[in-house]
Amino acid sequence: MPRLKVLFVVSECVPFAKTGGLADVAGALPAALAARGHDVRVVLPRYRITKRHAAERRPETLAVPVGHGLAYAAIWETKLPKSDATVYLLEHDALFDRDGIYGDKAGDFGDNLARYTFLSRGALRLCETLDWVPDVVHAHDWQASLAPVFLDTLEARTPLASAASVLTIHNMAYQGWFKKDELYQTGLGWDVFHPRGLEAHDSINLLKGGLNHATQITTVSPRYAQEIQTPDWGEGLDGVLRSRGGVIGVLNGIDDTIWNPAKDQHIAANFTSTDLSGKALCKAALQAEMGLAVRPDVPLLGLVSRLVTQKGIDLIAGALGEILALGVQIVALGSGEAWIEQLFSRLNATSTQVRAFIGMNEALAHKIEAGSDLFLMPSRYEPCGLNQLYSQRYGTLPIVRAVGGLDDTVENEVTGYKFDELSADALAQTVAWAVFVMRNHPAAHRDMMVRSMTKPMGWGHASRQYEALYRMAIARHRRR
Ligand code: ADP
Ligand code: GLC
Repeated sequence: MPRLKVLFVVSECVPFAKTGGLADVAGALPAALAARGHDVRVVLPRYRITKRHAAERRPETLAVPVGHGLAYAAIWETKLPKSDATVYLLEHDALFDRDGIYGDKAGDFGDNLARYTFLSRGALRLCETLDWVPDVVHAHDWQASLAPVFLDTLEARTPLASAASVLTIHNMAYQGWFKKDELYQTGLGWDVFHPRGLEAHDSINLLKGGLNHATQITTVSPRYAQEIQTPDWGEGLDGVLRSRGGVIGVLNGIDDTIWNPAKDQHIAANFTSTDLSGKALCKAALQAEMGLAVRPDVPLLGLVSRLVTQKGIDLIAGALGEILALGVQIVALGSGEAWIEQLFSRLNATSTQVRAFIGMNEALAHKIEAGSDLFLMPSRYEPCGLNQLYSQRYGTLPIVRAVGGLDDTVENEVTGYKFDELSADALAQTVAWAVFVMRNHPAAHRDMMVRSMTKPMGWGHASRQYEALYRMAIARHRRR
């Protein structure tokens, strides 16, 4: 099979910039595809935080049409760690040299349409500058959704037009809404401002534009692919998906070089499914570091999450009294909505059973996955979810709601615990049952740990699926 040339257009990518799982996927899938012999390149902005990473400045200057003028960009080149996949970081300080990726404490940045026009158009202009034409442009989420639109419109008479486009939805709830009088930022004409383009409710909806123009639409789990084609979960775009012939769900994998208890450098001791002694050390170290009583017998519940409504944190808040009455400890790490941050800060100060760290902390995320016994993930909806997979890998049984990728990846009472009803009661009961099993049936608990740790979840399978899907998209694009 001929090797494919694939361009990833994405707003975050491990290790260069991260707010959530999108960055994990963007750092791992290109590497998995490159390992299969493909020519894979990733483009993202050079944010302030990205400048910490070594990269080489290329000689060319890129001119990207944004608004009424051109935004000139420096091109920095590097590789994904331990991979042949090339990364281009587009530098334009007026748009990206600031604290925060999408916004700051005051909310989303007001110029996000210009910023992500720059990314999407810049990625395509970059290809022409490098004289490298991809077979597939793989765009992710609303931030890159203009790339398929541009390929179909402003770039339709350039060499780039031969590229098929794939748009992956990592989260249907974030769509990139902007006022219509900002359309000039994109350089697109009013001819795209209609319901089969990027118009929704008389506003600009970037995700909708991408969905309408992409050769192929995908999302990150089979169950979420079904859910978002229904009015309940389609966030207003289920009709668009159906009109485009649906969406393919490819389950995310995890990056074994980063999330692996046998090699993880962040944790107190390494361990495997055949020698779990290190996990007990990790638990003791986590309890000590967080200022909890160091008690091997007390079940320790972990939480690592963006603290937003999606993640069902209100269920945790509602169930907290009952959960703490079980005599367990909780360690929480996250940042997000003010009320949730305040709730955890208050608990941190007042409860001897709860410790919380508010903010991003990569090392602590690893320590929580390794040191906890159970992991809380009662999401309202979950496109895929990576934290439940990381938990499984570290023998920390996830307690999840049976939605989206959580339903696809957790087998009840085999590799974790699942409940259906969106209620604090359902969560509390499931936690109570998991704690009961742990205390009274340790062998069963241990058996589940081993089954979780040994289930396959690397990127091998998913990267082969993407490969097949790219070839299908290329064929479809040629027929058009
Ligand atoms: P989502 O992308 O919806 O936030 P995922 O489960 O797919 O959910 O991925 C979340 C990723 O972000 C994981 O890698 C998780 O460890 C990481 N993460 C979330 N919050 C924090 C935090 N406060 N500090 C460090 N890592 C975090
Ligand atoms: C989004 C989703 C999450 C998914 C991640 C990576 O952030 O909320 O469920 O795992 O993207 O695809």
